[in-house]
Amino acid sequence: MKHALAVGLFVLALPALAADPLRGAELFRQHCTGCHGVAGRPVLPGAPDLTKPTALLKPDTALAATLRSGKGGMPGYAGLLREREMLDVVAHLRTLR
Ligand code: HEC
Repeated sequence: MKHALAVGLFVLALPALAADPLRGAELFRQHCTGCHGVAGRPVLPGAPDLTKPTALLKPDTALAATLRSGKGGMPGYAGLLREREMLDVVAHLRTLR
């Protein structure tokens, strides 16, 4: 019984640990494609090409911080996206090629 409870809690905790790139892809479509393009190739002049490996050299938490605060022509997403969702979006960015 105790064991089953432990397993149950572990399974519940899992989604909270790993960022979800699929959820991130959905959020990217909603919030980011207007400037960064559906596939990460920019449609707004000045937006970086997110398919280039050099665009995403910063650690996940640093990229999430940039999303939170915004940068240059990019708006900040604090209040629009939860912290967790920013990491989901970053996980999606890592899948762009
Ligand atoms: C209004 C247009 C616009 C939107 C919407 C937008 N961006 Fe950007 N993004 C930019 C521009 C412009 C830059 C370059 C900023 C600079 O370097 O001055 C940028 C930069 C970035 C960078 C590089 C940041 C760095 O520190 O090197 C990432 C990653 C990024 N955007 C991801 C996203 C994601 C994810 C979203 C959606 C949540 C998003 N952007 C929405 C225009 C936009």
